[in-house]
Amino acid sequence: MNELDSIVDSARQAFSGAATPAELENAKALFVGKSGRITELMKGMAALSVDEKKTRGAAINLAKQAIEAALNARRQALADEELQVQLKAESLDVTLPGRKREPGGLHPVSLTMERIELIFASMGFDVADGPEIESDWHSFTSLNNPPNHPARSMQDTFYVDINGDDGIPYNLRPHTSPMQVRYAHAHIKKYAGRDMPEIRVIAPGRTYRVDSDATHSPMFHQCEGLWLGENVSFKDLKVVFTDFCRTFFESDDLALRFRPSFFPFTEPSAEIDIQFQSGPLAGRWLEVAGSGQVHPAVVRNMGLDPEKYIGFAFGMGPDRLTMLRYGVNDLRLYFDGDVRFLSQFR
Ligand code: DAH
Repeated sequence: MNELDSIVDSARQAFSGAATPAELENAKALFVGKSGRITELMKGMAALSVDEKKTRGAAINLAKQAIEAALNARRQALADEELQVQLKAESLDVTLPGRKREPGGLHPVSLTMERIELIFASMGFDVADGPEIESDWHSFTSLNNPPNHPARSMQDTFYVDINGDDGIPYNLRPHTSPMQVRYAHAHIKKYAGRDMPEIRVIAPGRTYRVDSDATHSPMFHQCEGLWLGENVSFKDLKVVFTDFCRTFFESDDLALRFRPSFFPFTEPSAEIDIQFQSGPLAGRWLEVAGSGQVHPAVVRNMGLDPEKYIGFAFGMGPDRLTMLRYGVNDLRLYFDGDVRFLSQFR
């Protein structure tokens, strides 16, 4: 092997031994760099005759071209390798399932609230909303439940660290009943100086009590109802509530029972029980609401004359109505946010 062939050969070996572009550039310098071996050979030609220069020059050039060809081939190979490594590192796993956007839906309790509102609106009831942080007077005293009265302990009330004007702390309303007096006040104000129509309203919303198990949650829902006029009787309560329950549960043979009870704000008072005639709950009496004829003291606190105005009120639990309608057996499912539960109501 002549000298030039062996230089080309060792260049090829050096290039293929270079593992990185930097190593390759270093190897290149050894052969075609400023003081590389080919460069040195060219410098050495100065002493040759013109003829010798021609043949020697052509031979060196061929060697140089072969070296550069090998260099470029190795450059390309290294660049390809690098690209492969990068592609592998940044690869997308296209087998991963995409994130679907499922259609949303209302919470089962919201569905019940809408249903209650729709049914009562169809019977001429207004729908009202009120504060969840309530004064002691609205939650208790105005409802004929004065401070220190034992009936207050029927409700395990949350108190807020802020006092009302009366020096008594505000509470997280333990029932929607304060809406009876609030709505009556607003109603009277609205019709001041005019003929006042009857008060016919429901007030659904959130309520709070210190209570937590499979059938009680510290935050729960209630829906208050109030119908007050000059000639509204217990018979009207029975008719309205029976109509409501039969429409709500889509069951014409649903039975209702009014069981004597006590509430400070009604006299007489009754718990309302319902009984399905068919289905998994058939035959059992299920409590769904408290009710009664509005107490004269409450009518007076509304700013109305109890000799003139009479009527009924009720308070029911939409959470429980939802459980009965859909067969939900644990109230805590409402608050877990588990789509497997919630999507069943979509
Ligand atoms: N506020 C009562 C409770 O929380 C429910 C209730 C009973 C509401 C009788 C009423 C009523 O309006 O007349 O348990």
